[in-house]
Amino acid sequence: MNINVLNHPLISHKLSLLRDKKTGTKEFRELVSEISGLLFYESMKDIKLEEKEVETPICKTKGYVIDENKLAFIPILRAGTGMLDGLISVFPNAKIGHIGLYRDEETLRPHKYFYKVPKDLKKRDVYILDPMLATGGSAIAAIKLIKEDLGKKNKIKFLSIIAAPEGVEAVNKAFPEVEIYAAALDEKLNEKGYIVPGLGDAGDRIFGTK
Ligand code: PRP
Ligand code: URA
Repeated sequence: MNINVLNHPLISHKLSLLRDKKTGTKEFRELVSEISGLLFYESMKDIKLEEKEVETPICKTKGYVIDENKLAFIPILRAGTGMLDGLISVFPNAKIGHIGLYRDEETLRPHKYFYKVPKDLKKRDVYILDPMLATGGSAIAAIKLIKEDLGKKNKIKFLSIIAAPEGVEAVNKAFPEVEIYAAALDEKLNEKGYIVPGLGDAGDRIFGTK
């Protein structure tokens, strides 16, 4: 299985609060955002830097900067939007796309209802955001759509908070070049396609809809 799982005490701590069914909407949203920022931090380790001269109060020196115009964040609606804050607080100028997908409760197959990405996506590396990677159906559908608008050399990274082995294997098989990052790799899926132990329905917990 090809996945980068964040192994850090801070992640374990925040993830336990997130999983707790007693955690309310406000705290849940804040935790999703914080964990997403940490996931982004880890996933951008190989990002290209550009040299830039900087003048300190003492002297000139060589600095290194990231070109925000080469990044795009694409959350999968709805739950993925809960992850956005954590990333745009770091890079407020990155462009944002949206992919609307919902999973049919019976078949577990994803259905597309919205797709809008930055026009110049070919110039950008893409970070797809979705807190839950369960069967992998939504992730695979999103990657397929994005690839139609992306250059051959652009990278796609998939950031999730909790991943199930079934979903990771499915994405690895369909798109071995897509790097997956997760705060946790859980045990399995249950008969309803929910991640075990998981955190329940991420969208409902972020938006308080149930
Ligand atoms: C959830 C989740 C993922 C998808 C994961 O969304 O946010 O998008 O399920 O499941 P999969 O890996 O089996 O495809 P859902 O379809 O419930 O929509 P929502 O975000 O609107 O609640
Ligand atoms: N979507 C969720 O929100 N939670 C799961 O456990 C699986 C899919």
